[in-house]
Amino acid sequence: MFFSPLQSIPPDAILGLMTAYQADPSPRKVDLSVGIYREESGETPVMQAVREAEIHIINEQATKAYISPIGIEGFRASVADLVFGDEARALRPRTACLQTVGGCGALRVASSIYRRAVNNGAAYVSAPTWGNHFGLLGGAGLHVNEYPYYDLKRHLLHIDQMLDCLRHAPARSLVVLQVGCHNPTGADPNSTEWDAILDVIEERSLLPLFDLAYQGMGTSLDADAMPVRKAAKRFSELMVAVSTSKNFGLYRERAGALVALAEIPSQVETLESQMKDITRGMYSMAPAHGALIVERILGDAHLRAEWCKELEAMRLRIDRYRQRLKAALQARRPDLDLDWLTRQRGMFSLLGIGRDDVETLRRERHIYMVGDSRINIAGLNDDNLEVVASSVAALLK
Ligand code: LMR
Repeated sequence: MFFSPLQSIPPDAILGLMTAYQADPSPRKVDLSVGIYREESGETPVMQAVREAEIHIINEQATKAYISPIGIEGFRASVADLVFGDEARALRPRTACLQTVGGCGALRVASSIYRRAVNNGAAYVSAPTWGNHFGLLGGAGLHVNEYPYYDLKRHLLHIDQMLDCLRHAPARSLVVLQVGCHNPTGADPNSTEWDAILDVIEERSLLPLFDLAYQGMGTSLDADAMPVRKAAKRFSELMVAVSTSKNFGLYRERAGALVALAEIPSQVETLESQMKDITRGMYSMAPAHGALIVERILGDAHLRAEWCKELEAMRLRIDRYRQRLKAALQARRPDLDLDWLTRQRGMFSLLGIGRDDVETLRRERHIYMVGDSRINIAGLNDDNLEVVASSVAALLK
């Protein structure tokens, strides 16, 4: 009788597709839905560097006692270094860092920090954005607004409208900015556009929360973190939600971090105490295994080099399939300008076809993509490329 008022909730727009795909008995099915990297065979492999790190960890581990509530020291330090690059050392005295349950955990804790710090604050995400931003920010009690971001008809950024919207945002609002491989559009601002975005953030005294979920999967580890590093040079305060799910392939291990810059070093302790208090009230502390793997890889020259090579191979495969998809579609639709497919970065692009067409593709062709027509380029391979291109080409506008 307690539970009877509860209504059942439809499956999550992305994770629900994962289940539907698994249940589909068709041998022809194609999964372009959930954002996980796949190799040619369609599998999501354990990276070799991860395997080697795991062997060391298993052989050496002496206990399963709790880790520190703030997280594993070496993991926190090396993730902050990866984010800030050459600036990391100078920023260290102002850097607070919490190990989190994946990038989601970081976004959720960041939202709570903002809620505690700013009375009646507003939060902004791009339109469109990754659907779970609404759940994560809303779950912390924030009202989530959207800023224009992407023109689906022209496959270009709505940069002027974005800047204009942020110029009218209430001062001290929280702005979520995806860095590198925007989800779901694959369209990122260029360096000049980032400067303009950061100008508005400064003018309006907004707090940037960078969502860095794909570092190294767009252009390079350094290039993908460029906007965060630019911001760190300009602003006294910012937050970065880091995921290691994609670039280390550690999806199910849930290893991420919330990195924040405090205005002055003496605030770092306060900020970290707030972070610990928020996680203690939700899940106490993050799991250790994934973070130990990342710590090990980043701290060992051989493993780190191996990981960089594997990450580059993933990136190149995605780029190759962007080229191949464009060529296959262009051959069928010479009337369209499809350059956006190769201009965009990372695993995702929006095809710009209708929800009905997405549904028909799933029902009749067993091709799975997210309802807004987001495809995971890494789901393409030699076996399915032509099928996908011939099924999709006529639907493109
Ligand atoms: C995605 O966008 O598909 C991934 O980030 C997986 C998820 O949790 O939604």
